[in-house]
Parts: sequence; C-alpha cells; structure tokens
Amino acid sequence: MIKIKASHEIEAMRGAGKITAATFERLAEAIVPGVTTAELDAIAAKFIKQNNATCSFWHYNGYPAHICTSVNGQVVHGIPSKQVVLHEGDIVSIDIGVCYKGYHGDSAKTFAVGKISPEAERLIRVTQECFYEGLRQAYAGNRVQDIGAAVQGHAEKNGYSVVRSLVGHGVGSCLHEDPEVPNFGTAGRGARLLSGMTLAIEPMVNQGTYHVNTLADQWTVVTADGKLSAHYEHSVLIRDGEAEILTTC
Ligand code: MF3
Ligand code: CO
Repeated sequence: MIKIKASHEIEAMRGAGKITAATFERLAEAIVPGVTTAELDAIAAKFIKQNNATCSFWHYNGYPAHICTSVNGQVVHGIPSKQVVLHEGDIVSIDIGVCYKGYHGDSAKTFAVGKISPEAERLIRVTQECFYEGLRQAYAGNRVQDIGAAVQGHAEKNGYSVVRSLVGHGVGSCLHEDPEVPNFGTAGRGARLLSGMTLAIEPMVNQGTYHVNTLADQWTVVTADGKLSAHYEHSVLIRDGEAEILTTC
C-alpha cells in the first residue's frame, strides 16, 4: 500500500530532510585523508542528536552504526569502523537517515577523498546525473518504472551498470515503505505516481558489472568485480510537475 502523505506529515519530512542535508554539510568538511569512517559516524551521530532528531539506521534490522560509509568497491551499507582510514584518491559513499517528529529523511552522496582519478570523478558525476534524470520522470501521473528506465538509460549510455538487487523505496513514518523504486525498468510500467507520495530515489551505479556480493559482516554490499561504485539519493515529494527534493537545506 502506497501512502499519500497529509500536509503535516510532509512538513515533518521537510524538517527531517533539512537536518539530513545539514549533516552532509557538516560531514563534507571532515572527509579528508586520514579520517576514519568511525569518526565520520560519531560526527554525524552528534550533529543529528544536537538537532533533536535520531539516526534512522541505528539498530534498524540490527544495523550496528548511525550512518553507512561505503568505500571504493563497496556499494552500500558499509559499516563505519576505527579500522577503516580514508586515503587520498578513495571515494566514499555516505548514506544518512534522520528521523524527526516521527518521519524519516534518507539521502546518500559519494564524496572524493582528496584528489581522485578522472574515472572516479566521472562515475560520481554520472551517478548524480542519473538521480536527476530519474527525478525528471518523478511526477504525478507517471509510473514508477519511468524513473528507473531514465536512471538505467543514463548509466548505461555512459558505460556503467545499475545495481539490480537493491532498490529505492517509499519513505515516511517508516524508513522503507511501498513502493519499491528500482533503478532499472521499462517506461510506462509499475504503479502510478500520485501527488503526496514520498519516495527515496537512489541510483547505485557500478563501473563494471551490476552483480554484487554481501560480505561476511552481513551488511557491506560490494561489487562482484571489485570495481568502483557510487550512490546518490534524495527523499522526494511527488506532485504535479517535477518532484520536490525534501533532503535539502
Ligand atoms: N538508505 C539505506 C537504504 O535505503 C538505508 C540503510 S539501512 C541500514 O537501504 F540498515 F543500513 F541502516
Ligand atoms: Co534509501
């Protein structure tokens, strides 16, 4: 069942989204060579708490940290650790969920650590473009797979692949709600989008194969071929015309 949000729910989601976006701004300055992903986790946790909100991922299905930090060939759900030091040339995907007044904001971005290769730069840029291609299709009257078809088309046109086994989702009072929002598909298929639906659109784009594996920690998803992966996600509100991005300042 896809929920249509009332205006007071959308207001709470704008609040959650603002805090999510502000957390990214706080983290961006801390993502430098030598920092550990555990330090980034602590900074985010403290900042979110100071903003009278809670971390949506903390203990979600047993997840053991506040944010996800996925380095290089890790796709998503990398667990912050004191053992993981970021080095010049790495890329790190940060995924943040914030709960405020009972509603979630969910957003992810891939960051460069110091100076990175032109290939890695291009992957990050195209992944962000994939999100915006999807966003252009995210309006009342269109269908869910119109989003995925646009994301997939842009990724594959650029020589990349989209992860199939993980998808975007509805978001609201629960972090994961209906519908699933795949990053692939056939235009014109899937549930119809209606004003008041709130979705997390989140392309995960791989340099090589779309196949992924999960590490023994039961969380970290990695590319099967070890090549790089990037992630870009916002929570958005469907309306007439282009969706409103909720996870923004
Ligand atoms: N943004 C992530 C997703 O939509 C949420 C991470 S779930 C957690 O899948 F369990 F890792 F917290
Ligand atoms: Co999500």
